[in-house]
Amino acid sequence: MFIFAQMKQRILVTGGTGYIGSHTVVELQNAGYEVVIIDNLANSNADVVDNIEKVTGIRPIFEKLDCLDFQGLDNLFSKYTGIKAIIHFAASKAVGESVEKPLLYYRNNLVSLINLLELMPKHGVEGIVFSSSCTVYGQPDELPVTENAPTKKAESPYGNTKQINEEIVRDVVTSGAPINAILLRYFNPIGAHPSALLGELPNGVPQNLIPFLTQTAIGIREKLSVFGNDYNTPDGSCIRDYINVVDLAKAHVIAINRILEKKQKEQVEVFNIGTGRGLSVLELIHAFEESTGVKLNYQIVGRRAGDIEQVWANPDYANNELGWKAETSIEDTLRSAWNWQVKLRERGIQ
Ligand code: UD1
Repeated sequence: MFIFAQMKQRILVTGGTGYIGSHTVVELQNAGYEVVIIDNLANSNADVVDNIEKVTGIRPIFEKLDCLDFQGLDNLFSKYTGIKAIIHFAASKAVGESVEKPLLYYRNNLVSLINLLELMPKHGVEGIVFSSSCTVYGQPDELPVTENAPTKKAESPYGNTKQINEEIVRDVVTSGAPINAILLRYFNPIGAHPSALLGELPNGVPQNLIPFLTQTAIGIREKLSVFGNDYNTPDGSCIRDYINVVDLAKAHVIAINRILEKKQKEQVEVFNIGTGRGLSVLELIHAFEESTGVKLNYQIVGRRAGDIEQVWANPDYANNELGWKAETSIEDTLRSAWNWQVKLRERGIQ
């Protein structure tokens, strides 16, 4: 008797060795997709591919490639034929750096997307999932924020690249290009894979809250600075919607299924990917201490320029339309971030 194995559908993941990318590759492989990763390794390491293999038992295809390299991308699509869809993570993402080096950000983040969109029809790639951000809402007038809230002028070149990229996708689709797109607006992704083999590994001093917090808890940093306790919030610190990175990764698999199964209601769809729960910086610190039993050294300092006071998602549209929901508790998420930090020390990395 012959058993015909169903052909696995091939997905390209740009930035696939990065933080959110690597977790998404795991979930795609678990869901039966074949993954081709490209990454220029500017902010990640090739050994992430080994760890993806350890977690899933499957080694994804990996090519070191920069999305700015149009010819390289063209060759890649010819080498790995039949790519059905792309998840485009590859981007520069440090808000402060983007203010200092705007052209670097505009070039990296805009040209990469333009190159991919230009090559998709030529190589028969049907769809793209784009990593957008709640930063497009600025400080929303109403909370929780829905996808219909107006976008506000970006606070940084980084934020502006997310807005412009959303518009580029819409304009290309409006022009008649045979491209289906889903824009996922992430809130604040945190945590690590439960295996502690994958997680966030920032270069240098972390700018984001959780890596700075776990590095402080383990003794790499002396003190966590809480940026402001005089905001118009119950405890005075800023409020965000912290979303578990594995839950976030799963949203991408559902988005890919939706595109390939032709279930979209419009050629470009937008979804908020958050929990619907706002937590203040101080609440998050206390939740970390309670769920890990580790005491954190922190101090209140002045506000950080450009910070939004409070933002959290209304995820109803994603919940109802995608059938996706954030599932992991904040306690499990914070424990996973801590376990990852401990594992990094065991591996002698940090
Ligand atoms: C920012 C961007 C977001 C981007 C993300 C990833 C904006 C408005 N948001 O999110 O688009 O996707 O970075 O790079 O541009 N905090 C401290 N102490 C610290 C670090 C942070 O108190 O040492 C506070 C911040 O004031 C903020 C919260 O923790 O209230 C979260 O900060 P962070 O992790 O940097 O993310 P965002 O600024 O929300």
